[in-house]
Amino acid sequence: MIALGCDHGGYSLMQVVKAHLDAQHIAYQDFGCFSEKSVDYPDYAHKVGHAIQDGTCDKGILICGTGIGVSITANKMKGIRCALCTNEYMARLTREHNDANVLAMGGRVTGPGVAEGIVDAFLMTPFSQGERHIRRIRKMEEDE
Ligand code: RB5
Repeated sequence: MIALGCDHGGYSLMQVVKAHLDAQHIAYQDFGCFSEKSVDYPDYAHKVGHAIQDGTCDKGILICGTGIGVSITANKMKGIRCALCTNEYMARLTREHNDANVLAMGGRVTGPGVAEGIVDAFLMTPFSQGERHIRRIRKMEEDE
């Protein structure tokens, strides 16, 4: 199950992401927001982070205007590894190397076609299980 969250700056791109997931029959839980009315992005990043922490969802997608605010917020949460990606290469590598569990994108930065490719790469790429990557992820958590 994929947890989805956005603010008003990410709302439009999130509609594209949802349609793309629907087309592939990928299940998601939408934590909002649900319009372009101004909201506070940390509220939605926290909802997505909590859904992963409590096991309701195994991955998340967060979108704000730049992707920066949601990614900073999510990365302060224990066990969350959120990667702000602007291309498929970053999305693939963050899964292979960082075992990222949340993808962040910028609704005012990334176009719909590129975003679909980023989402596909993020959701389809497994963690490499490489020993050096496991070691580095453990080191990230030492200072959590
Ligand atoms: C909202 O205007 C904007 O600040 C937000 O969407 C995001 O870009 C913050 O990082």
